[in-house]
Amino acid sequence: MHSHRKPTSLLQAAAAVSGWLISGCSASIENPGLLPTPPMGFNDWARFQCVINETIFTETADAMVSTGLLAAGYNRINIDDCWQEDTRTEQNTLMWNTTIFPNGLPWLASYLKERGFHFGIYEDAGNVTCGGYPGSYGYEAIDAETFASWGIDYLKVDGCNVSPATEAEYHSIYLAWHEAFTNMSDPLIFSQSAPAYFSKWITGSDNLTDWYTTMDYVPYTGELARHSSDIMVYALNETSWDGVTSPWGSVMQNYGYEIKLARYQVPGYFNDPDFLIADHPALSLDEKRSQFALWASFSAPLIISAWIPELPEDVLSYLKNADLIAVDQDKLAQQATLVSRDDTFDVLTKSLDNGDRLVTVLNTGNYTASTNISVSRIGLVEEILGIKVEYTAKDLWTGKNIVFKDELEITDLPMHATAVYRISLSAILADLVKPTGLIWNDASSNCLTAGSDGQIAFDAFSGTDEQVWQIEPLVGTVSPLSDTSLCLTATNHQAILEPCAVVPINLAQQWDYSVSGYLMNRLTKQCVTESTQSSLGTCQDEIDSQVWALPVGVKVNW
Ligand SMILES: *[C@@H]1O[C@H](CO)[C@@H](O)[C@H](O)[C@H]1NC(C)=O
Ligand SMILES: *[C@@H]1O[C@H](CO)[C@@H](O)[C@H](O)[C@H]1NC(C)=O
Ligand SMILES: *[C@@H]1O[C@H](CO)[C@@H](O)[C@H](O)[C@H]1NC(C)=O
Ligand SMILES: *[C@@H]1O[C@H](CO)[C@@H](O)[C@H](O)[C@H]1NC(C)=O
Ligand SMILES: *[C@@H]1O[C@H](CO)[C@@H](O)[C@H](O)[C@H]1NC(C)=O
Ligand SMILES: *[C@@H]1O[C@H](CO)[C@@H](O)[C@H](O)[C@H]1NC(C)=O
Ligand SMILES: *[C@@H]1O[C@H](CO)[C@@H](O)[C@H](O)[C@H]1NC(C)=O
Ligand SMILES: *[C@@H]1O[C@H](CO)[C@@H](O)[C@H](O)[C@H]1NC(C)=O
Repeated sequence: MHSHRKPTSLLQAAAAVSGWLISGCSASIENPGLLPTPPMGFNDWARFQCVINETIFTETADAMVSTGLLAAGYNRINIDDCWQEDTRTEQNTLMWNTTIFPNGLPWLASYLKERGFHFGIYEDAGNVTCGGYPGSYGYEAIDAETFASWGIDYLKVDGCNVSPATEAEYHSIYLAWHEAFTNMSDPLIFSQSAPAYFSKWITGSDNLTDWYTTMDYVPYTGELARHSSDIMVYALNETSWDGVTSPWGSVMQNYGYEIKLARYQVPGYFNDPDFLIADHPALSLDEKRSQFALWASFSAPLIISAWIPELPEDVLSYLKNADLIAVDQDKLAQQATLVSRDDTFDVLTKSLDNGDRLVTVLNTGNYTASTNISVSRIGLVEEILGIKVEYTAKDLWTGKNIVFKDELEITDLPMHATAVYRISLSAILADLVKPTGLIWNDASSNCLTAGSDGQIAFDAFSGTDEQVWQIEPLVGTVSPLSDTSLCLTATNHQAILEPCAVVPINLAQQWDYSVSGYLMNRLTKQCVTESTQSSLGTCQDEIDSQVWALPVGVKVNW
């Protein structure tokens, strides 16, 4: 991992000395300066699909200025599909539709730039875009130069109509784009759709190997990647939209993909769960606010797809929430990960650049509900030298501080609403933070669970401390919160729980996590495997049984 800042926390310092730092990276994650924090702005797609024109973009830009959205950080205007003519020019360059863009895209670029915006556009990796317009296949370098010459600095490359639709074909095309950008003095920001085409949404297959393999390269080839389904478009009340039946279902579906992929995100590369559908008529205000709070907790792109000139004040107000935008744009760029999941609540946490800890609590249930979250689940210490630590948390919706020990109380959270707290930590307390949360299989969604008699199991989400794991940053030991004196231990083809060794540290109790999702034992070099026969096996190439989502903050080997 490439931290461009000095190791300030114990965790980072530990990573630096323990040789967990990796070698050999390139592109986005080696050049995080191109897009150090996730993009914020507007895209027309989910709101207008192909019914677009110049006025939509100029009026949107004007409204983003007058409503304060630009000042809040939303500084990109991106055009999606259907902006083109049917054919390329005689010089093989692309051409905009002159009926809908009468002044031309270079004019629009200047209009936007004068008002403080960046301008982005859309193309497709195949011969034809999803909407049926000329694709960029074979024209990557020409098109990149053309876009730059129009004043564009951001490109989304979709993945319709790629033939053959193999993982290898996509990889070679996205690499060609990467090479074209690398050749430019001023490369475009590269938003990649390739992983979405290998997600279960498209393939319908339980075999996620190609999805993982595609995710493995996108942090090297570009700055962001769409990993899953399209978010539901405006006002369609379809009984079936990418497998869901409501816009809330669509938000939850993309959220569900996002939470499996935190290991890939670093400053300079961002997982993209798709647009904020801030004026969808079938979303409640709580649901819209939840989408925003969750996306911010992920440090995900905040790209609004709504008719901004008519957004009501309550929507503008949450979109401009400075505390949540600061969380989204935090320099550490951590993606919050699941601490626990039960029938009602998803609890997520991550660290922020100044050492603070974020807690995000989503009520996925259908009723107003309350819960208490222990400080140890958030990765914090309960006491120091026998004295309870008092924590101060800011409610990022109300701005009010609360003070607590032992447990953070969440009271009367409405259905589908999200509570977000930023816990301020002194440098000492920040250094004591331990990555804590679920260890769960990306394919089966089963969780590593501490059983009785030192056994482990792979169980469905239960919300209990037997599924919440604490990873010791210095040594890489893995312990269940239900009994932190036990450590995950490699034996002959089985991972079991044994009392943690103190001195010397037992290599059989030390684990390394990799961006491929493997949890590998340092002694046996075997990987944790979800199987009824043996829970440790020879590490194989991105097979479903060996790919795990771990708490953010665990050192990721690239
Ligand atoms: C642009 O598109 C919008 C939305 O489809 C429509 O309401 C508007 O009349 C169009 N404007 C022009 C100038 O065509
Ligand atoms: C260009 O836009 C006009 C107006 O919407 C539309 O009638 C025409 O079909 C578009 N051209 C192409 C090639 O899509
Ligand atoms: C583009 O079209 C050509 C000619 O039909 C075909 O050989 C090629 O496979 C297509 N490429 C992609 C990426 O779809
Ligand atoms: C990038 O530049 C290299 C060296 O000039 C050239 O060989 C290569 O074809 C270029 N690639 C693209 C995609 O333009
Ligand atoms: C899963 O997909 C990969 C890549 O397409 C393939 O190599 C592998 O054989 C598949 N595994 C199973 C069990 O079908
Ligand atoms: C979809 O549902 C919403 C709210 O139930 C309603 O306001 C809207 O008109 C519906 N849209 C369509 C296209 O039916
Ligand atoms: C909430 O209601 C929806 C639709 O009525 C239902 O499908 C879902 O299972 C319910 N969720 C819970 C957690 O009760
Ligand atoms: C949370 O803790 C408080 C204080 O101990 C208690 O009154 C309350 O009932 C608890 N709430 C839940 C949902 O357990």
